[in-house]
Amino acid sequence: MNKGLRNWRLFSLFGMMALLLTGCGKPFLSTLQPAGEVADMQYSLMLLSTSIMVLVIVVVAIIFVYVVIRFRRRKGEENKIPKQVEGSHKLEIIWTVIPIILLLILAVPTVLTTFKLADVKAMNDKDRDKKGTVVVNVRANQYWWEFEYPDYGIITSQDLVVPTNEKVYFNLIASDVKHSFWIPAVGGKMDTNTDNKNQFWLVFDQKATDKAGGVFYGKCAELCGPSHALMDFKVRPLPRDEFDAWVKKMQNAKKPVVTDPVAKEGEAIFNKSCIGCHAVTPVDKRPVQARTAPNLANFGDRERIAGILEHNEENLKKWLRDPNSVKPGNKMAGTYGHLTEEQIDALTKYLMSLKVE
Ligand code: CUA
Repeated sequence: MNKGLRNWRLFSLFGMMALLLTGCGKPFLSTLQPAGEVADMQYSLMLLSTSIMVLVIVVVAIIFVYVVIRFRRRKGEENKIPKQVEGSHKLEIIWTVIPIILLLILAVPTVLTTFKLADVKAMNDKDRDKKGTVVVNVRANQYWWEFEYPDYGIITSQDLVVPTNEKVYFNLIASDVKHSFWIPAVGGKMDTNTDNKNQFWLVFDQKATDKAGGVFYGKCAELCGPSHALMDFKVRPLPRDEFDAWVKKMQNAKKPVVTDPVAKEGEAIFNKSCIGCHAVTPVDKRPVQARTAPNLANFGDRERIAGILEHNEENLKKWLRDPNSVKPGNKMAGTYGHLTEEQIDALTKYLMSLKVE
């Protein structure tokens, strides 16, 4: 390869990296801007381990440079050999003990933190609802998320709502393949499995929430199919009183009363083709096996269309027209016949009118 081409490749690689890395560090998405107790603990561990690694690299580099310069071959001393230290017990003990000490410094806080993060006693307490412990059942599906609040009897999808400044506990499962539940700014990821329940807790800091603009981004962090990278969700942490008000509203939400004639037409299409999979109230009582698609009760209040597109009518129409072009391999593609533009307009009107707040 000629030198110009090689330089150009190197240059473009660095350029790309710089461009990509400027995307890091956003308060709604970044692990480096911890937004709660769990994220804080994990961030401290990252700093600790990174500092130890940097310290080792620096010390080794200094010794290396010193040795190269100090013992280089000099004019007139071509045949001189430095003192040989092979088999020195003293040196061997030193470079065995130092890594052990470093590993201990790393291991003690890591193990302590791991146990703290695994403590989910409060969520398995029989009286948890009397104590006000918030528990959310997360169910991951190709390529959407369901959030059920078992103590309040409500279900929502795609937008997770939680109270701030307190421990929120999660039961994690998947209904089809393995996924992974991850809110980068708020805590590390945890797998959702089909055959067993994983449990953990997170804290959503109020100040960090304000800084993030009220919404954190959530991700699927386990390769689960062609739209894995598009399997996003949003988190809206609210102060406790606002959260309680939201729960009340969800609990009291009735089937929407549609008056607009176009939306009414949309409702008729929906009731014929969509309601078998999609519920439109948060208190829908169908069993978990029958919940094969996102609950749409508060669709009009959502942050995104299909979890990824900006929330507007244009994008909803795009989704209805050809869901597979937005999220390849999703389960909605091909489940309903061809919709005319008129039908799409009517459905859009109806879906956007589904609001709880
Ligand atoms: Cu679900 Cu990746």
